[in-house]
Amino acid sequence: MAGHIPQQFIDDLITRADIVDVVDSRVALKKRGKEHIACCPFHNEKSPSFTVSQNKQFYHCFGCGAHGTALGFIMEYERLDFIDAIEVLAAEYHMEVPREQGNFTAQQDNKKPLYEVLEKAAISFADELKKTPRAVEYLKQRGLSGEVAKDFQMGYAPDSWDFTLKQFDSHNESREACLKAGLSIEKNPQKHYDRFRDRIMFPIRDRRGRVIGFGGRILDKGEPKYLNSPETPVFHKGEELYGLYEARQAVKDLNRIVIVEGYMDVVALAQHGIKYAVATLGTATSDTQISKLFRIVPELIFCYDGDAAGRKAAWRALQNSLSVLRDGVQARFLFLPDGEDPDTLVRQEGQQNFEQRMSKAMPLSDFMLQHLSADLDLSSADGCGRLSENAWPLIAKISDGVFKDLLVNQLSKMIGLPSSSLQQHIPQTSRLKTPASKNSQPVLAKHQISMTPARLAIALLLQLPELAKDCAIPQQLRNSDLPGLKLLIQIHDTILQTHTLSPSVLLERWRDTDDAAIVNKLMQWEIPEAKTSTQLASLTDAFNNLLHKHHDIRLQELLNKSRASELSADEKLELSQLYQT
Ligand code: UTP
Ligand code: MN
Repeated sequence: MAGHIPQQFIDDLITRADIVDVVDSRVALKKRGKEHIACCPFHNEKSPSFTVSQNKQFYHCFGCGAHGTALGFIMEYERLDFIDAIEVLAAEYHMEVPREQGNFTAQQDNKKPLYEVLEKAAISFADELKKTPRAVEYLKQRGLSGEVAKDFQMGYAPDSWDFTLKQFDSHNESREACLKAGLSIEKNPQKHYDRFRDRIMFPIRDRRGRVIGFGGRILDKGEPKYLNSPETPVFHKGEELYGLYEARQAVKDLNRIVIVEGYMDVVALAQHGIKYAVATLGTATSDTQISKLFRIVPELIFCYDGDAAGRKAAWRALQNSLSVLRDGVQARFLFLPDGEDPDTLVRQEGQQNFEQRMSKAMPLSDFMLQHLSADLDLSSADGCGRLSENAWPLIAKISDGVFKDLLVNQLSKMIGLPSSSLQQHIPQTSRLKTPASKNSQPVLAKHQISMTPARLAIALLLQLPELAKDCAIPQQLRNSDLPGLKLLIQIHDTILQTHTLSPSVLLERWRDTDDAAIVNKLMQWEIPEAKTSTQLASLTDAFNNLLHKHHDIRLQELLNKSRASELSADEKLELSQLYQT
């Protein structure tokens, strides 16, 4: 295995690389004002909403939300993993990637053994299926052919405590990898046992086709009916979709995708010629999943049971779609007759009839307005008022554009008010043309998160790292557990310790950490243009705000404590000092 790449080299490479060159050599950029723009390479569009900022060394698409550093762009555009992208970027800057010797391995390399055991387990399960008539019989009775079972590499985990574990040598590394990959469970350090027993196995693959987890259905009766891999370093339920890799393999020019609830639904639909179904993994459909799908196809059909639970799940999917909707994409909802799921229905009525249903699926706007007005009397002013009140926070999440305008029109027709008077109530999502500079309380466009003092300070430090040296973290804040402070302090310390002045170096250091999402969002925030001294003042203000909050909390704590018991001398001193601030 290749040695570890020193962090210093990665930092240097990222500092040296210029995102404008890196992107421009792949996607021709045009200069517009301070930004460089192009049609987004990650989704279909006719007018450019993909922007590259030389100052921030960051790209961001206002259409589909794609974003990242130069390195991230290479990973995304060329579909490379972190290490390979480093190699590509280094080659472009004629730098040779040094490797450290020793057993210290990069985070990315830690995942390798996990992928390996998962892949091998999938093969063993598939072999075992062929040898188990009872399992084959079960799939046959559910109408599945050997061919579709093979396409999805379905398998069988026998009723055994160590079948999976026995596929690997008994070295600690393999045991550890199985455990980390979610294939086994640790009873105690000596005793590990298989997670999946007597189950039909569905391997879940990532975009590149690597097995990252499994779903397992019990063969007969037993609880739970489906068992999924737990969250692991390679498997994140809220991001992945079962069947997406297989759909992309099977259909060259995917133009729509249907989202269903179960593994069996995906496989049964494929068996009947509908090879473009994917399933969420026992969780609600997240905005991450939806935006991933909209980068692949312009049309999504959410398919749910017609019962109350199905409607509820559909409503959650709708809520999560709003922030990723944009012109040129559409989401529709298909509700199935009570008691049916795509698996039972497609087996009864076949591909044509099922596709017929999909072509009649309800547009998102209809579902939204229907759902919101379900219990309201629209012949009364009160009912209309409530509908508009309930609708506007949802509509506000949608980016400005034709779709949003149409939805407002539709709403105005329902409540009998001209859309111009409704429009006043609906905050416009800020986009390219409208930087947040006018607002004193900026809201992050599209990725609705509100600006707290901690987030403001983080955004300033990420985008203008040079501010760190002139603005120390107040000592008291180091002992505070206000939300966001830990990350703020880490970023501040990293800037000073590594002397980095490059936003993208910081961004890359937080890649694959729990804070990566928030760091990326704060990188996208448009800091109003101003002199460095003004920016420094904003940062100091933010620190002071945090300090006040910390004092308030500490004061309350000490007062509460003093009611219950005598304070120590130190605490009394602290209290009197807090009173004076
Ligand atoms: P359903 O219970 O609707 O199952 O669960 P199904 O797909 O119709 O299954 P069959 O036809 O009886 O085989 C739908 C999805 O919910 C998750 C799984 O992802 C499943 O595919 N689920 C369900 C679980 O995660 N655990 C469970 O115990 C049940
Ligand atoms: Mn079913």
